[in-house]
Amino acid sequence: MTPAGLPPVGLRCAHLHNPLAIAPDRVRFSWLLPGSGLQQAYQIQVIPNGFGLLPGAAPLWDSGQVPSAESADVPCDGPPLTPGRRYEWRVRVWDPAGTASEWSAPASFETELAQADWAASWIGLGAARESFTPPAQPGKPDAVASALRPAPYLRHSFTLAGRAVTARLHITALGLYEARLNGQRVGDAFLTPGWTDYGQRVLYQTYDVTGLLRDGENVLGAILGDGWYSGFVGFDAKRAGAHYGAAPELLAQLEVTLEDGTAARVVSDGRWQGRFAAIRHADLLMGERHDLRLEPHGWDFPGFDVTACEGDGWRAVDQRPRDTRVLAADPGVPVRVTQELSPVAVRRGADGSHVIDFGQNLTGWLSLRASGPAGTSVRVRHAEVLDAGGGLYTDNLRTARQADEYVLADGPAVLEPRFTVHGFRYAEVAGYPGEPGPGDIVARVVHSDIAAAGSWESDQAWLDQLFRNIDWGQRGNFISVPTDCPQRDERLGWLGDAQVFARTASYNRDVAAFFAKWLDDVADAQLPSGAFPDIAPRLNFPGAAAPAWGDAGVIVPWTIWKMYGDRGVVMRHFGAMTAWMDFLERGNSGYLRTRDLGHNYNDWLSPVSDDTPRELLATAYWAYDAALMAELADAAGRAGEAAGYRELRAKIGSAFADAFVSADGRLTSGTQTAYVLGLHMGLVPDHLLAVAAGHLVDAIRAADWHLTTGFVGVGYLLPVLSSAGHTDVAYRLLAQRTFPSWRYMIDRGATTIWERWDGWSEERGFQSAWMNSFNHYALGSVGEWLYRFALGIDQAPGTAGFGRLLLRPHPGGSLDRAEGSYQSVRGLVRAGWERAGGRFSYRVEVPPNARASVHVPSAAAAQVRDAAGGPPVSVGAFPGLRGVSEAVFQVGPGRHEFSGPDLRAAR
Ligand code: BGC
Repeated sequence: MTPAGLPPVGLRCAHLHNPLAIAPDRVRFSWLLPGSGLQQAYQIQVIPNGFGLLPGAAPLWDSGQVPSAESADVPCDGPPLTPGRRYEWRVRVWDPAGTASEWSAPASFETELAQADWAASWIGLGAARESFTPPAQPGKPDAVASALRPAPYLRHSFTLAGRAVTARLHITALGLYEARLNGQRVGDAFLTPGWTDYGQRVLYQTYDVTGLLRDGENVLGAILGDGWYSGFVGFDAKRAGAHYGAAPELLAQLEVTLEDGTAARVVSDGRWQGRFAAIRHADLLMGERHDLRLEPHGWDFPGFDVTACEGDGWRAVDQRPRDTRVLAADPGVPVRVTQELSPVAVRRGADGSHVIDFGQNLTGWLSLRASGPAGTSVRVRHAEVLDAGGGLYTDNLRTARQADEYVLADGPAVLEPRFTVHGFRYAEVAGYPGEPGPGDIVARVVHSDIAAAGSWESDQAWLDQLFRNIDWGQRGNFISVPTDCPQRDERLGWLGDAQVFARTASYNRDVAAFFAKWLDDVADAQLPSGAFPDIAPRLNFPGAAAPAWGDAGVIVPWTIWKMYGDRGVVMRHFGAMTAWMDFLERGNSGYLRTRDLGHNYNDWLSPVSDDTPRELLATAYWAYDAALMAELADAAGRAGEAAGYRELRAKIGSAFADAFVSADGRLTSGTQTAYVLGLHMGLVPDHLLAVAAGHLVDAIRAADWHLTTGFVGVGYLLPVLSSAGHTDVAYRLLAQRTFPSWRYMIDRGATTIWERWDGWSEERGFQSAWMNSFNHYALGSVGEWLYRFALGIDQAPGTAGFGRLLLRPHPGGSLDRAEGSYQSVRGLVRAGWERAGGRFSYRVEVPPNARASVHVPSAAAAQVRDAAGGPPVSVGAFPGLRGVSEAVFQVGPGRHEFSGPDLRAAR
């Protein structure tokens, strides 16, 4: 139990710790209770500046004592917040006995600038060109080479008449920026400001740079990369200039308060100077080329003499007034280097190059320490897999080069790109001077730095490998937006992939802020018709409204609400979701979704893809949308709309049953995906549920116990089987080693999830190079089942935000042990089970401020006891397996253990 009075901890605002810039309408609070208490009421106070700074000052907002167990997603209901201000907030809680806790330590947030507060201009060096010879890629067309351009270095010297007591740098780019202040890199984020539809919304970051400023001369600088704005992006082998803009530009505003209370402001404007220098090109897909001989050393330090440079020296920048595009504080998660991997093997190629295996398919780049004569060229290529001859297999990269090149200056150097990212496990380093020693070459893992939330461990090494592969796939593809793949010339925010994987992603990592950012991209890309796009941010790709892709516009917000109790995201996007629902209803009659299906990818990459009728899949998703909309409308307090969506759901449901479900419980086509969708989305009439699930098992048996699902069916396949009492079949599919199966990939060395079930096979070698990524997370959506079913970490039906847990493990297969955890918004949930000596035991930890219903499967549920010897409150049939019963316990926060006769005895 909590010692009475301990204050709440882990305070967050908009899912972030003490954000330095946040839109006022995103300000929503959450906290954790220490120990294992329950909350019966809370009180929040918000005060401008800080509690310490203005002792005794009245708070801007005092919620008073609010009788509520909510400890996440609590809105700031006070008077309007002022833009560009710092606020502190604190919270205290009451336990069920009415005892108040201490006040928490204060947390802070700062509000974003008002659009009118921006005084900075866009600056850059224009669309200068320079040709270059890219690293050789045998057999590749070379249309892109001449399009690559050097990176602008921009600088501005200014003087401060005193010591800074607070300083905030608000900065962004059309393109990418790396900010420098007095010779130091500002912050540790990469690929900033991230990818949005730059025509509509540009994110900016805010940094506390107080400690970097000096009394006297200072230099603020930035290097710009093309990034998604003006570099190559997507699959049309076109510079993004065709999509967004021709050359990168910077916008920066530094706000300083000096010791004597005076304010100083420094902005990007025509007084800045710029030049091209060592970075000869920097492109997300193509890679970087640095000529270290051209580095203008000291350029970002005070005292640097701009006139002393040789060659094309510093010149005045081009200046353009700020335009009407919205500048928004970044609500998401920064991209960072999160890990370093050392080579597991280094081999010398015939040409003397080093072929390095990092043992893990990852997204990032190499960092090399090298020393050699000036002019030495070191070239690095990257690939996910090797070809039959042991060389890098790059055909599946299509036109993406993902190659870096460095020309050394005299002396030792650390070689590392900063405006690109590569998907690879192997690298080939050509021209490295000498032999690399330990630590000279490492891989740096780069992605949106989203905190891990889930864990899994079992007695089956292959299953633990599957879990790791799923998480690595997520890490490599969550880079500002959830992308399909991180290596080839695509890397787009495909909605279908994101939607099938969102629940798994949320268990793996704390994706609330990441998806909050991306859902704005989705809304920005919505068509005036209400159709959600197939990709977000939008490029000039026209696809929209494809079933299971467009539906992500409803499913992802629902998932975020479900997992985090986030009603803010629901309210923010309610209008967009309604427009989508209206679009579907307008375009289709008779409650069957047969029209406006866009590119209609169906059950993408299923081994029997086209066999599932398109209207069946589309209508199932429409029904699902309607059901989720009803829940979301309830969550948003819109009871009328909720009723409307329930009615719509019922109508689509009967139309679906009439069109696709026969009297003997068969679904049209009989594909596994048809059954999975019908059952998962509740479209099979109750009296036919068991028989339809039986037909699904028959279809699996007919495929010799293999799955035939693609992106759309795969995520719900195991959950549907377990929910219908066929957990044994779920384990059978999971353990299947022959094609198609997850283990088939693992047996062939996969360290991420492949795009295709048959990415490589002994018989055929590589699948078509045209579309064969080895790091696509969609087929990894089975991760959800590992958490929700295998471990049993789930929520009571209809609830959100993990206040009411449903802990119901599904043991099976050859597993004798599985354990794991999930860091929920209420705190850590743990669950683990073991089968030994004819006994089944289940250990759980319920976080503070949550209650759980624990369901323990057993051959004799009445004999199951908790560790203190207490009997179950009830006993019933275990839905996961026929013939097995379950004992139900109701528990509060803390650790609990249960054991009883193993369920194996039942069979
Ligand atoms: C992508 C997928 C995407 C699909 C649409 C592919 O090129 O890689 O992941 O969802 O197109 O069918």
